Amino acid sequence: MTLEIGKTLGKRLIPGDILCLEGELGTGKSVIARGVAIGMGWSGAVPSPSFTIIRLYPDIMFCHVDAFRITDENELLECGIEEFFEGPWICAVEWAEKVRRIIPEGNPTLRICYTPVEEDRIIYLEIPSSEERWKRLQGELAKYGRF
Ligand SMILES: Nc1ncnc2c1ncn2[C@@H]1O[C@H](COP(=O)(O)OP(=O)(O)OP(=O)(O)O)[C@@H](O)[C@H]1O
Ligand SMILES: [Mg+2]
Repeated sequence: MTLEIGKTLGKRLIPGDILCLEGELGTGKSVIARGVAIGMGWSGAVPSPSFTIIRLYPDIMFCHVDAFRITDENELLECGIEEFFEGPWICAVEWAEKVRRIIPEGNPTLRICYTPVEEDRIIYLEIPSSEERWKRLQGELAKYGRF
């Protein structure tokens, strides 16, 4: 389910979009990001960028960020993130809550929560506006559960 949600997002996001991924350790943020890359046409591996912070897929213009180790937004700015946030890249940012201050407004947040059932997740897509394409995306994801 998590991978399928990512794939749908990967097909629907457009250059310049930044998908903010929030959720506790191990909830499935990296799986979503992998799905996004696959949805954008990637067929190789999508390792977690925990140690590299930013991993680029120039062939598909996908930028995968993992802010887990970041303690200060400036660390991400020093990595040159602004260039990728401005487009034409599509970015997915794990632990977006840690760097929220430097993520441009107008982007969606996917929040993943644990439930008492270990293999279950509640996943929310918070859309940045009532723009038609966001509402449509929310509707499309509804088939995977609560949105
Ligand atoms: N919907 C789901 N139901 C059950 N297990 C899931 C689901 N989504 C992902 N997982 C599993 O949870 C584990 C952790 O996934 P993942 O690495 O994507 O989490 P993460 O949120 O990126 O973790 P981190 O906080 O360390 O970056 C993986 O083994 C993955 O297969
Ligand atoms: Mg991860």
